[in-house]
Amino acid sequence: MNDADDVYSGPVPDPSAMRKQYRAEGLAEAELAATPVEQFARWFREAAVEAHLFEPNAMVVSTADAEGRPSSRTVLLKQFDEQGFVFYTNYDSRKARDLAENPYVSLLFPWHPMARQVIVRGVARRTGRDETAAYFRTRPHGSQLGAWASGQSSVISTRADLDASYTELSARYPEGEQVPVPPHWGGFRVAPQSVEFWQGRENRLHDRLQYRAQADGSWRVERLSP
Ligand SMILES: Cc1cc2nc3c(=O)[nH]c(=O)nc-3n(C[C@H](O)[C@H](O)[C@H](O)COP(=O)(O)O)c2cc1C
Repeated sequence: MNDADDVYSGPVPDPSAMRKQYRAEGLAEAELAATPVEQFARWFREAAVEAHLFEPNAMVVSTADAEGRPSSRTVLLKQFDEQGFVFYTNYDSRKARDLAENPYVSLLFPWHPMARQVIVRGVARRTGRDETAAYFRTRPHGSQLGAWASGQSSVISTRADLDASYTELSARYPEGEQVPVPPHWGGFRVAPQSVEFWQGRENRLHDRLQYRAQADGSWRVERLSP
């Protein structure tokens, strides 16, 4: 064993012994907002402002290709309203290729410190170019260049190639100069078909209230067994 190994020594915790009791207060039908987006806004505010969670807008986006093979990754939510939940990404990435073949998607917000999770299932569509451009302009200069430098999800030979591509771009577009919106970059808006609000409770008797979209545009709330 050399010195470098010592840094990693010590017992590995046993995940089967990790057990938390969740909170007593639950989520009741009577207190739910009229729409899942309003209910999401309440919980999102609590996550960000009251619980001070780190990146409460980080969500796990799951897609599946045309053969139904799933894949998941974390992405940042950038906007939400009655039209849906918006994130930005590379249109040549694996997730975007999946969505081109199969627009059904799941978004999961893992708010573990609050014993909460929200799961949105719905259909993703690309945002319009004007909307994408308006958001791109709000990004820091470095992130704008990064969107050009990265062929997201493609195999690259070395880290140095990526850094060289960034350096070349920063010479072409110095700080203060407008960076054009990459044609391969943009948003997806997920229009929800169902949204589940999960609140952990004692003895694993959790509350799960799910809004499901009805044909007439209204929402029906169902309680799911934990
Ligand atoms: C906290 C966090 C936030 C991320 N936010 C984004 C994002 O907003 N957009 C994005 O394209 N990738 C984001 N990523 C990277 C993705 O997880 C993923 O690596 C990338 O989008 C490529 O995924 P794909 O190959 O499955 O398409 C984020 C990763 C983490 C850990």
